Amino acid sequence: MGLRMPNPLIVSSSGLSANLEGVKQAVEAGAGAVVLKSLFEEDIAAAVERMRTEVSESHPEAESYLRQMGMILEPDEYLSLVESSVRLADVPIIASLNCYSANWWADYARRIEKVGANAIELNIAPLATDSKIGASRLEDELAALVELARGVVKIPIAVKIGQYFSALPHLVLRLHQAGAEGLTLFNRYYRLDIDIEKIEFKPGNPLSTREELAPVLRWIGIVSNLTNLDIAASTGIHGAPDVIKTLLVGGDAVQLCSVLYRRGLGTLAAIRENLEAWMKEHNYSKISDFQGLLSFKKRGAYYQRLQYVKALKELPT
Ligand SMILES: Cc1cc2nc3c(=O)[nH]c(=O)nc-3n(C[C@H](O)[C@H](O)[C@H](O)COP(=O)(O)O)c2cc1C
Repeated sequence: MGLRMPNPLIVSSSGLSANLEGVKQAVEAGAGAVVLKSLFEEDIAAAVERMRTEVSESHPEAESYLRQMGMILEPDEYLSLVESSVRLADVPIIASLNCYSANWWADYARRIEKVGANAIELNIAPLATDSKIGASRLEDELAALVELARGVVKIPIAVKIGQYFSALPHLVLRLHQAGAEGLTLFNRYYRLDIDIEKIEFKPGNPLSTREELAPVLRWIGIVSNLTNLDIAASTGIHGAPDVIKTLLVGGDAVQLCSVLYRRGLGTLAAIRENLEAWMKEHNYSKISDFQGLLSFKKRGAYYQRLQYVKALKELPT
């Protein structure tokens, strides 16, 4: 993406980067780059607005929770967050736009570029709920959104998607052809849970566990050599070993969110130190010395292994 980063640790788009104080703390803690909280597309903003009205009436404390988590942000507030973050930070500031339909956000992308964002991450989250719409149509729409963004801004564009795609390598090629320079794999969406006593939905755990990294590693490994897209891992990066694994399968950077919520921004320095110690121990002086050593291109056979036939022997009985 042409961004100069002092290290590969990016603070993810979240409540942690929803205001200037959060960005300042992330930069002071040594983040290599910061992705700002997403600005959500109008219909989602409207839903949040409805939710806000509903929750404000019934649970005034819930609004302050939503605010704290950075889940409410107004468009003008967002532009000034981008502008002041860029002024404050000496590392790349990546704005994040949630977009699904083609209209509302294109003009906004222009304005984000104008106020100085170093790049834009498009947070695109199609949810397949309509049995009449096939995977290829959803992917066409995704590529079209990226093309549209490419047509309106010159700054680098990263695309952040979720895990639910049936033929990811094909989609990655298309996103590249559509003009993206970066890819973030994967977003971890709001999770549903169910209260079986009240027979009602409730929020699932918003924070990930390290175990969730496995599919991220698999897919980054498979697509890392396909194009020159820069790839950041997201979901399940909780420590230096996870960063090392991401780089070994061919990723370029990692994004951190849950671990920072749980353990604070000081974790960034610890992860960087442990990464450096591991590199020293293995006689690597730069990331490119070991990046991609375990990618699909180098170790394809291992990636083909999906079933537990052999591993079963290793499982406890
Ligand atoms: C409270 C919260 C708010 C988030 N808001 C956004 C957002 O606005 N845009 C986005 O692309 N991802 C958002 N995410 C997802 C994170 O950026 C990240 O992709 C996800 O949490 C997985 O990474 P992790 O395992 O390090 O937590 C949010 C996550 C949390 C927990």
